Amino acid sequence: MKLLNQIALITGGSRGIGRATALLFAREGADIAFCHLEDDTKADETAVEIRALGRRAIHRSLDVADIGASKDFADHVASTFGPIDILFNNAGMNIRKPFEAYTEADFDRIVNVHLKGMFFMAQAVYPAMVARGRGCIINIASQRGLKGAVNSAPYSAAKAGIMGLTRALSWEAAPKGVRVNAIAPGPIETDMTVTMEAADRQAFIDALPVGRFGRPEEIAATALLLAGPEGGFYVGATLSPNGGDVMY
Ligand code: NAI
Repeated sequence: MKLLNQIALITGGSRGIGRATALLFAREGADIAFCHLEDDTKADETAVEIRALGRRAIHRSLDVADIGASKDFADHVASTFGPIDILFNNAGMNIRKPFEAYTEADFDRIVNVHLKGMFFMAQAVYPAMVARGRGCIINIASQRGLKGAVNSAPYSAAKAGIMGLTRALSWEAAPKGVRVNAIAPGPIETDMTVTMEAADRQAFIDALPVGRFGRPEEIAATALLLAGPEGGFYVGATLSPNGGDVMY
């Protein structure tokens, strides 16, 4: 087992990429704490599956844009399970509109959930990781942060910011034993992409060299690489499993 007895905090763990990562990490021996926004039935189901794998699971509905709520949960996890080894900073959403239609409230919501939420959740777990001289933080960006996309300007900007945050924090964190990396997935089959218009979705698939959307498990596998024993030389990196959408 690659994560035996480690403690992982996963944001957005009730479904999609977060859920797949929670289950893979549990299969590899980690206890899992996750938060989610409402979505209680799916969160309960995920927790039951984690426990069926023989690992501990706790979860809480909260909004990662609420810094106090995130810090409170991180503290609760540490006092319930013990020190957090891995933060999988994943919770997210999108509001799709043409650039000129975005309101200030739309912009603030997207940036607050993604960039501010990930920044302060990392800050909530970071001091304890530094004190122990070890820790792993994985921030979920997006291929949209690399190449941009129509009808997603604030999302693309926030995701690009997350890659910048990952690199900046790495300069401070790596010498203290904390590795920070990002994953920038291409389009993945989750509730987030189910809401795309059918024509947009097909156009997306047609433009992908691999000819299909990715599966959440394919992103979880990248997270395991970064968090596991083979990931020790990744620092400030952005890995992008994206079906050939962005080749670099
Ligand atoms: P999803 O919609 O299937 O799951 C989102 C998860 O985040 C759920 O657990 C939800 O409860 C939680 N969540 C949403 N807003 C939250 C908030 N304000 N506070 C706390 N929890 C919140 O989405 P998916 O696709 O699994 O997305 C996960 C991450 O991957 C997001 O950051 C997304 O931007 C990113 N991503 C997704 C891609 C895709 O094609 N699905 C592609 C690239 C990146």
